[in-house]
Amino acid sequence: MVHPDYRSQGVGGQLIEARYNLIRALNLRGLVAGSLIVDYGKVADQISAEQYVREVVAGLRFDSNLSKQLRKGFKFYGLIPNYTIDVNSRGWAAEIVWVNPDYRPARRIHVIPTPRRAGLLPRSLGRAPLLHGI
Ligand SMILES: CC(C)(COP(=O)(O)OP(=O)(O)OC[C@H]1O[C@@H](n2cnc3c(N)ncnc32)[C@H](O)[C@@H]1OP(=O)(O)O)[C@@H](O)C(=O)NCCC(=O)NCCS
Repeated sequence: MVHPDYRSQGVGGQLIEARYNLIRALNLRGLVAGSLIVDYGKVADQISAEQYVREVVAGLRFDSNLSKQLRKGFKFYGLIPNYTIDVNSRGWAAEIVWVNPDYRPARRIHVIPTPRRAGLLPRSLGRAPLLHGI
């Protein structure tokens, strides 16, 4: 979280980029997060959370949390009720996902348990699995 005095100056964007870079380096598929719709409370008595988010996603309305995360490449996937007790968002969050475009399925490792044969191996070794890279 960026201190309110330093928001909209590129700091949060750099933190998000750092997370993306880590995910790329670890060859992970992506990132799923909850994003509070922090400005929804200002209009909660006029429109539903669904309508609010629809407008934010369409770029018709600016939410000072969700809009920035969408701007950095997250995609909106759905609404989460009762996410927190935060009053500004009325407890709502958006489920947001960033898919790593560089993800490559890694070499899969299958664990094949070795059947234990009494008397041939010590008990601990007899239970040890074999690792087979495919
Ligand atoms: C979300 C948050 C991390 C963003 O940090 P930030 O330093 O304000 O973000 P940035 O200034 O890097 O802006 C991120 C993007 O939004 C854009 N943006 C920022 N302020 C904007 C504004 N007022 N209007 C339109 N776009 C804006 C930036 O241009 C940037 O996109 P770009 O890199 O393509 O130029 C920060 O606002 C924050 O900590 N908010 C509170 C988070 C919170 O409440 N979390 C609760 C749990 S989700």
